[in-house]
Amino acid sequence: MDLEGMTVVELKDTLRSLKLPLDGNKAELIERLEHAAQTMPESVFQYDDIKGMDPLIHWFKMTGRLFSPEAAIYGFTRFPAGVLLTGVPGCGKSMIAKAIANEWNMDFHRVHPEELVGPCVSDNERFMRELVDDLAARAPVVCFMDEAEKLLGQTKAGSMYRAADAARDSAESILLQFMEDDNSGVFFIFTANEFEKMSPALLDRFHGRFFIDLPSSTARKDIISSMLEIRQRNPSDYDIERLAEISDGFSGRDIRTAIDEAMKSAFFQDARPLVDSDLVEAFAQAIPTSEIHKEQIADMREMVSQGKMRAANSQEFGAGVLAVKGGSQLEWV
Ligand SMILES: Nc1ncnc2c1ncn2[C@@H]1O[C@H](COP(=O)(O)OP(=O)(O)OP(=O)(O)O)[C@@H](O)[C@H]1O
Ligand SMILES: [Mg+2]
Repeated sequence: MDLEGMTVVELKDTLRSLKLPLDGNKAELIERLEHAAQTMPESVFQYDDIKGMDPLIHWFKMTGRLFSPEAAIYGFTRFPAGVLLTGVPGCGKSMIAKAIANEWNMDFHRVHPEELVGPCVSDNERFMRELVDDLAARAPVVCFMDEAEKLLGQTKAGSMYRAADAARDSAESILLQFMEDDNSGVFFIFTANEFEKMSPALLDRFHGRFFIDLPSSTARKDIISSMLEIRQRNPSDYDIERLAEISDGFSGRDIRTAIDEAMKSAFFQDARPLVDSDLVEAFAQAIPTSEIHKEQIADMREMVSQGKMRAANSQEFGAGVLAVKGGSQLEWV
């Protein structure tokens, strides 16, 4: 939710619906909502909710089987340690993590920054020790660390807490050791926007490393249809082909935001039915993620072509996605 972009009235409406106090200035209202969002139960997703990512889903289906008793009988000696997801913002990383915990029938633990980084230098180490002990006790569990490179990465600038690097490194080495030794069934899902800032030793622990790109045209059709269905609309009442065309460059989140905008304008006009033109207008007004994050996306695609990451998205040759051009060179067309 874009809390900063909401008006005070909208913030208060949301707080009211959650039965939370309405006093305070805008910053305080936002803080209260952020806190509520962090402590809210996670939404439940399934593989089927994730559109246009067949290679990644296939990998998850295979990897999930390794937690079964049959895998141990077959001769596997270790559980898989984790997966690293990088990709375009709003294209499903968090959603995938929740879907995995649900599909694998595991507990889900999302690591919040304050759980790992404290004001005292020694906190970081102690917090990490507590985290991994807790995870081992709760196994099988999926541990989700969003923006892991910011928490653990080698970058020092811009950190809110500026813990001494030595302590941070040893917090990281506790994690590394744990991932190496532990076999109680803790599966780490890390997301990183700049995964090159993560230490090579940590990167090595992740056998699965996937890049999640913007949804293709087919995926956008599926996302639009399923989002309309969730909102009690019949997709066949709308021109899905056209909406998919004009949403080129949209993330899944952009699509969701545009659909909600369209519904909002119809709803404010005496709750009249949602029509195609509402959607077309909202889609036309949105600024797609492909424009906002143009350079970042180009850099990330480059990593896929260099073989550092695997493409999570289903490939559609000639449909504006990854294609092989001249020899084994991968290019985006
Ligand atoms: N491939 C997809 N299929 C279906 N829905 C999607 C897809 N990608 C994104 N969405 C929708 O967009 C929402 C936002 O996605 P999500 O929060 O998982 O993105 P993210 O990659 O974690 O973003 P961020 O980088 O900002 O954390 C999802 O809850 C879902 O409604
Ligand atoms: Mg996310």
